[in-house]
Amino acid sequence: MEASATENDAAARQVIADHIRTLFEGHGSRQWYDGYEAVSQTRHALQCAQNAIATGAEERLVSAAFLHDIGHLIDLNGRDKFQSGSDAQHEEVGANWLGQWFPPSVTEPIRWHVAAKRYLCATEPSYHASLSLVSQRSLALQGGVMFAGECMAFEKMRFSADAIRLRRWDDHAKDPEKPLPDFQDVMAYIIRSVHVPAI
Ligand SMILES: [Fe+2]
Repeated sequence: MEASATENDAAARQVIADHIRTLFEGHGSRQWYDGYEAVSQTRHALQCAQNAIATGAEERLVSAAFLHDIGHLIDLNGRDKFQSGSDAQHEEVGANWLGQWFPPSVTEPIRWHVAAKRYLCATEPSYHASLSLVSQRSLALQGGVMFAGECMAFEKMRFSADAIRLRRWDDHAKDPEKPLPDFQDVMAYIIRSVHVPAI
């Protein structure tokens, strides 16, 4: 008997989720966040999702929080680029890759979460000092503090508010001791956020 469309859809979502999980259980669990932070990419991603859940964020934003740095796991040369003083644009790499399966409401906050840091540095006097040293160093490579005109343009963008929310969860997701949410519970958000089963 042929599988129903619902069964095919569920299977496709699971395949995508399994692929993503493999990235985090492999490179993500071994790779220190940005090469220097005290947490792995996977711990950072889980904590970021945890922060989103704690604020009652929509499902799509919990998914964006978990996936926001997946570009680091796709472009494995990114860390070398960072260490040699160039920006790998992990936000673009990740958002473009995720766009195969996830809607803009997931991918665009990810694409703009670095811009959100540049924006917050320009608009909140205490924000820059609150960043980790790695985030402060990468800021310069990512274009530095936004100019006034850039801030105005950013504020008008459709997903800028979501990108700022994501950025704040991101900034507070580098605790090496904090208990983590269950991986499977977070993956359930990912599965439900898949938009296009393109397989
Ligand atoms: Fe991050």
